[in-house]
Amino acid sequence: MSKPMLVCVDDYEQYAREYLDRRSLVYFISGADEEVTLKENRQAFKNWKIKPEVLRDVSKRDLSTSLLGQHVDFPICIAPSGSHCLACHEGELATVKAAATMKTCMVLSTYSTKSMEEVSQAAPNCLRWFQLYVWRPRTIPENLVRRAEAAGFKALVLTVDLPVTGKRRTECYAGGFYMPPHLQLPHLPQHFKDQDVELEYGAPKGMVDASLTWECIEWLKSITNLPIILKGILTPEDALLAVQHKVAGIVVSNHGGRQLDYVPATIEALPKIVEAVKGQIEVYMDGGVRTGTDVFKALALGAKAVFVGRPIIYGLSYAGEEGARQVLQILRDELSLTMALSGCSKINDIKPQYVVHQSHFAKL
Ligand code: FNR
Ligand code: LAC
Repeated sequence: MSKPMLVCVDDYEQYAREYLDRRSLVYFISGADEEVTLKENRQAFKNWKIKPEVLRDVSKRDLSTSLLGQHVDFPICIAPSGSHCLACHEGELATVKAAATMKTCMVLSTYSTKSMEEVSQAAPNCLRWFQLYVWRPRTIPENLVRRAEAAGFKALVLTVDLPVTGKRRTECYAGGFYMPPHLQLPHLPQHFKDQDVELEYGAPKGMVDASLTWECIEWLKSITNLPIILKGILTPEDALLAVQHKVAGIVVSNHGGRQLDYVPATIEALPKIVEAVKGQIEVYMDGGVRTGTDVFKALALGAKAVFVGRPIIYGLSYAGEEGARQVLQILRDELSLTMALSGCSKINDIKPQYVVHQSHFAKL
C-alpha cells in the first residue's frame, strides 16, 4: 500500500498517532499535568499576526544564517529528544543524516539511543551540538564532555529546566515509559545499567543532579572550551543571569510543555527575553513550532533560530531518515514561502515590524 500524501507537519503527527506503538507514542506526545502549556505552545502562535509588505523584490530568497558563527542553510534546527530508536530502527543515525543533507544543526540528547560517536560517524560533516544533563556523579558528565569534544560536537547545550522530571499523566496512565530490552542508553555508564533500581527513561531515577545552581556554569567552563548554551530559560531575569555567566546562547524553552505546567508559551516569553538580552548573546527558541509562519514569527520576535522536537520524531516514525528530511524540507519551504509573501528575501530582513499581537487589533 502506498503511503499517504503528507503536506504539512500536522499530517506527520497524524500518521505517528495512527501507526506508532502506543507506549512510544505516549512518551513522545505527552506533556506535564493538565498539558496547558503543551497546548498553549501551539495556540499562542495563532495570537501573532503577520503584517506583510508588498512590491518588494522577493524573486531570490536566501534562508541561510549562522549559529555561533557556523553556517546553516536555514534557521530550523533539531531539538534534543530522547530515544529516537523508539520512532525508527536507525534512531539518531537517521536524524543526523537528515540534518546533514539539509545542512542544518542537530542537538543530540544525553538520552539518545545511539552514542555520540556513532552519530558523528554517520554524518561527520553535520553541525552537531551535544545536549548535556549533569548526571551524578560529575565524573559522568565530565566524561561525556570529553567524548563530545573528541567526536566533533561544536557546542554543549546544558538543559536547565529538568532538575527533576515533570509528571506526565498520559504516560502514567499508559503504565510508564517502556524501553524495549534491545535498546539502551549508550551514554549511561555500564555500572548503572546493571543496577536493579527504578528507571526513568532508561536511566536510574534521580540521576540528574537536582542540586545544580548557576555555579555549574563555571565548573563546565573549567573543564571545556566548547561554547555553552542554556536550554530552558523562560524569564528575562534568568536570561540576564545567563548573560552575566557569559554563556554563548540561550534557548527559550519549556521543554515542549513536559516539565512545569502553566509556564508561558515560548513564543509569548520570547519578546521580553530578547529585549532584556539586547543582542549580547544568541537567543533561540523551541516549543510548538509546526509551520513556516511559526518560524517567521519567532524570527521576527528576535530568535536567531528555532528548534523542533516532536516534528522530527513524527518524521522518523513515518519514514526514518527520509521522513525527518521531509519534515525539515516542509518547514524550510513554508518559511521561504512566508518570506516571499511578506516581502522578505533574506533572514535578516525578518524584523519585529512584520508581526503584531492580536491584542493590538482589539485596541483599534
Ligand atoms: C524532549 N526534550 C528534551 N530536551 C532535552 O534537553 N533533552 C532531552 O533528552 C529531551 N527529551 C525529549 C523527549 C521528547 C519525546 C520530547 C517531545 C522532548 C525537549 C525538546 O528538546 C524540546 O524542548 C521540545 O520538544 C520542543 O517542543 P516541540 O517542538 O516538541 O513542540
Ligand atoms: C524528556 C527528557 C528525557 O523530556 O528530557 O523525556
